[in-house]
Parts: sequence; C-alpha cells; structure tokens
Amino acid sequence: MKIRKAIFPVGGLGTRFLPATKALPKEMLPVVDKPLIQYAVEEAAEAGIEEYIFVTGRNKSAIEDHFDHSTELETLLHIKSKSEALLAVQEMMKPPGSISYVRQQEPAGLGHAVWCARNIVANEPVSILLADDLILGKPALKEMCEAWKGGNMVATMKVDPEKTASYGIITPGKTFGNLVEVHGLVEKPKPKDAPSAIAIVGRYIIQPSVFTTLSTQSKGAGGEIQLTDALSEEIGKAPFFGYHFSGKRFDCGSKLGFVQANIAFALQRDDLKRPLQNWIKNQF
Ligand code: UTP
Repeated sequence: MKIRKAIFPVGGLGTRFLPATKALPKEMLPVVDKPLIQYAVEEAAEAGIEEYIFVTGRNKSAIEDHFDHSTELETLLHIKSKSEALLAVQEMMKPPGSISYVRQQEPAGLGHAVWCARNIVANEPVSILLADDLILGKPALKEMCEAWKGGNMVATMKVDPEKTASYGIITPGKTFGNLVEVHGLVEKPKPKDAPSAIAIVGRYIIQPSVFTTLSTQSKGAGGEIQLTDALSEEIGKAPFFGYHFSGKRFDCGSKLGFVQANIAFALQRDDLKRPLQNWIKNQF
C-alpha cells in the first residue's frame, strides 16, 4: 500500500522564536530563500505524496497565501521578464484540490493537531512532517516510505544522552539495517530516566487507529496532548519501527538550529558557497 497523504501540523505558537513568530508563522521562517514549510512540502512530494493536509491556527494565513497564486506578483514578473523568479513562484504550486486546511482552534499539542486531521485522512495510513525539523541530504520521508511495509514508523536519530529531555525517546529492540524495532516511546524523559539516546525526529507514518487512540488521550508532557503518548499505546498492535534516516537534521524551532541550517543550506548553493566561505574565513 502506498502512502498518499501527509499531515503538516503548523498550529504551534513558536514561543521559542519570539518576537519573530508574534505575527509570522514559525513555518514561514526562511532558510536562505525558502520557507521551512516549502522544504517540508517538497520532501513530501519527493516521497510520492499526493494530498497535503495543513493543520493551522490563528495567524497562519500566510501559509495558505504562500501555496496559492499571487496573480499581481506573477503578472508583474511576467511584464518585467523576470522569468527565473516567475518560475520559482509558479513551480511550487500544487494541483488544485490537493491541499486542504483544517483549523486546530487551540494549540493543545502535536497529538491534538494530528487528531484534527482525522476526517480528511479517513481510513488510511498517513505521513506526518514537522516543518521545523529540516533535513539536509536524502529526503527522509522518501527513505521511510520505501522501507515501510505496514504498521507505524518514526524517523530516528542518535542524540546527546544529556539532551533526552528535548525529544521523544524510543526503547529500541532489534535492528535490521536502518530499521530498529520500537518497544517503547516516552516524551521528553530526563537523562536518568531515558530508555536510550535514540530520539524521534519529526517524520512519521501512522495507522488510522492512532486517531482513535488520540481521541481519548489525556494531556502529557508540557500539559499538551502528545503524539508520542498515543503512539506508545500502539506498540504491540501492529509492527512499529524507527528509521535511521541518512540526512542531517536541523531543529529550526530553536535559534541555534535555525542559524546553523541557514549556513549549511547556503553552503550547498553554487551562488552562495564561495562568498560565504570567504566571509567566514575573514571574520573568524
Ligand atoms: P513544537 O514542539 O516546536 O511547538 O511543535 P511550537 O508551539 O510550535 O513551538 P515552541 O515550542 O512554542 O517554540 C512541533 C510542531 O508541531 C506543531 C508546530 O507547529 C510544529 O510544527 N504544533 C505544535 C501544532 O501544530 N499544534 C500544537 O498545538 C503544537
């Protein structure tokens, strides 16, 4: 079975990035010249996703505008023969009807945001991408979809054992290449309580039964409804694997991760690599 749909939860408040995120959705912050959410949508498209479901909140209308035509801008770029810029804004458009939006109404947590998409997803497995987890290199969701044979799957990576309280952490079982059995999941454990230093990164493939589990989920870490808590209840019901993706992940919800991502992505660009390297050499 193919994964056709992707949920993009974009209803969070982005409090770690204030004041930038007071009026601007965190997911619209640009890395070099592209907003985070566009990287996530492009990654989903590379994985073969055909339907894009955004779970938004108040103050997030810039995301809807970004994925719609801007007729005035396009006309102006056409008149001024700015063909490269025109192509950039037109190429990113998705077929009409392939993007849906649902409002989360209150930022009650990632689990709650995912649950809000239940009626649009209906009864099929679905992927989830968190745009603030930006991945450089091989598109992680594509790798996961290729490895997925059913059940639930989360993207995983090794983290500093002292930093487990910033992540969802798995209890690992047997490994098979890039796949690792998930025997347990816990959200933001203190290092002394963490079952491992293998963290969940913001890419998931979930079974529709997770929506039912989420509907009765009580608040977890941070007083929020946590996706990790609902997923931990799925263990044993269906195969559950972590996938060690090959790319490098940047936490663009944090200031340091965001600045690092901008430098790393700029260094991949032919137009920016040389001048940036020269500037860094001369500065430090
Ligand atoms: P974060 O844990 O980074 O939370 O959410 P946040 O609220 O966006 O940011 P901080 O911690 O206050 O700085 C991870 C992802 O889940 C989404 C966010 O938009 C982000 O993509 N999310 C989070 C929701 O959609 N709804 C929520 O209620 C919480």
